[in-house]
Amino acid sequence: MKTYLVTGGAGFIGSNYIHYMFNKYDNDIKIINVDLLTYAGNLENLKDVENRDNYTFVKADICDKDAISKIFAENDIDRVVHFAAESHVDRSIKNPEVFVQTNVLGTLVMLNCAKAAWDNGDGTFKDGKRFLHVSTDEVYGSLPDGNDYFYETTPYDPHSPYSASKASSDFLVKSYVDTYHFPAVITNCSNNYGPYQFPEKLIPLIINNILSGKKLPVYGDGKNVRDWLYVMDHAKAIDMACEKGRLGEKYNVGGHNEKQNIEIVKIIIDTIAEMLPDTDERKAHINYDLITYVEDRKGHDRRYAIAPDKIKSEIGWEPETMFAEGIKLTIKWYFENTEWMNNVTSGDYQKYYQEMYK
Ligand code: NAD
Ligand code: DAU
Repeated sequence: MKTYLVTGGAGFIGSNYIHYMFNKYDNDIKIINVDLLTYAGNLENLKDVENRDNYTFVKADICDKDAISKIFAENDIDRVVHFAAESHVDRSIKNPEVFVQTNVLGTLVMLNCAKAAWDNGDGTFKDGKRFLHVSTDEVYGSLPDGNDYFYETTPYDPHSPYSASKASSDFLVKSYVDTYHFPAVITNCSNNYGPYQFPEKLIPLIINNILSGKKLPVYGDGKNVRDWLYVMDHAKAIDMACEKGRLGEKYNVGGHNEKQNIEIVKIIIDTIAEMLPDTDERKAHINYDLITYVEDRKGHDRRYAIAPDKIKSEIGWEPETMFAEGIKLTIKWYFENTEWMNNVTSGDYQKYYQEMYK
């Protein structure tokens, strides 16, 4: 039985990944989830797995070397799947320090603890160990409008403090591969959407605003392009890259689903209007007049688009969920989880929203 140390498993992608893994492997794996439970971490995301005998939650900071070493000392960890990070670009523009702390120094702590635990003492590592570093396409910078793509060979050119911190963490992982032959694989994924995403990100923010009758803030001209991937497809890619990826390699993961932000907002408006019953009084007010163009994000990357050819040809992964289907599944999840949304949007979120969109 393999033991997984998952970092950031109480966040959006981490919690979906844990659901994916238990769904796939059931009792054949053990998962230890280490998460600091920042504003983005939420144990409600994991309610249906919390009583499993093969699941453990540890509240700890990945920057805390003693806490992380203790987990390695007490468990024979086979896989590290490293999600924990500060993940929101707008917050990184306002407060970059915590991004360097968690994303760079936290990754260094994870690498050092895994390296120490897996070291045979003769410059080699124990057989079969793997460290999967979850990264982003934002490290590649911005593409002009057109049909160029990000490849694994595209030079890094990050623009925001968030993407610069993720690029630094990728380089640290690469340096451990190159220097120590450390058994790591990196995945660089495009924008995810799906259940449990915190409503600071475009798709859940728009869904929540529509359902609560608020304006829909679109940055700049609304024509920035993102390549959207359903989160469960990402979870599958991570599992496959972890098991079948060549050590020391990086793999781009993307949905082949480029859309302008304004298209996304209009699709969500149309889909919610279609899905709400006629008896719902909110329906009459759901239309494009809710869209409000607001000041652009500083340093806003124009376009992201992933070429996922390498992961397809080497590992056999492909995106499976069409956007039309994924967005309905997502909206349905938010319809059915109003209590989750109410809980995460009370308190600090209100302060964040006022400050961000004033
Ligand atoms: P998220 O913000 O929803 O979750 C991050 C999780 O990390 C939270 O549970 C939080 O509590 C935890 N965390 C933060 N700081 C920590 C610390 N110091 N110690 C321990 N835990 C800590 O993020 P997400 O959207 O799920 O992203 C997960 C990973 O995937 C990140 O590394 C991100 O860069 C990467 N990624 C995200 C996307 C996307 O579209 N969301 C796309 C590609 C890659
Ligand atoms: O590409 C992968 C990245 O995708 C991940 O590495 C990040 O962790 C994740 O947050 C996401 O980054 P983005 O900045 O692309 O996602 P966000 O949802 O914040 O914004 C998507 C686009 O929508 C972006 O062009 C900015 C725009 N936007 C966003 C918000 C929150 C708006 O127009 N209005 C908004 O209110």
